[in-house]
Amino acid sequence: MKYLLAFTVFALPVLAQEVDLSDPALIATGQQAFLDYCSACHGEEALGENGPDIQGSILKDVRQAVKGIDQMPEIWLEDGEPEAITAFLMSLNPKVAEIKLRLEAAKRN
Ligand code: HEC
Repeated sequence: MKYLLAFTVFALPVLAQEVDLSDPALIATGQQAFLDYCSACHGEEALGENGPDIQGSILKDVRQAVKGIDQMPEIWLEDGEPEAITAFLMSLNPKVAEIKLRLEAAKRN
């Protein structure tokens, strides 16, 4: 319980720097785009199928991936869709997203 509280208090500002996770409409838009472009390979809940588990991916991961990597083809997205898809993926696993953001921040320091 203590841990959960600490997580909520400290993690939300970190996550909010990336995309607005308090915006249900953004997450819903992201889910729709994910179902259209990504779920065939990554599964409807992004837990992996013909592609890896990508729950908790951050914007950098999504931007890099849609340029195409190995088995994943390049995917053309509209403006704003990478952010919306990221919001959806982060909302599925905020803890993984937070760890990724902290690692990125540590790399920059
Ligand atoms: C045709 C199948 C396919 C589609 C469609 C697809 N992916 Fe992928 N994706 C893959 C595969 C396969 C990999 C693993 C690539 C590798 O590292 O060899 C991957 C990797 C990724 C990774 C990196 C995972 C990691 O741990 O490095 C991210 C992020 C990702 N995809 C996001 C997306 C998003 C967002 C979409 C939709 C816009 C999408 N993918 C659509 C097949 C797909």
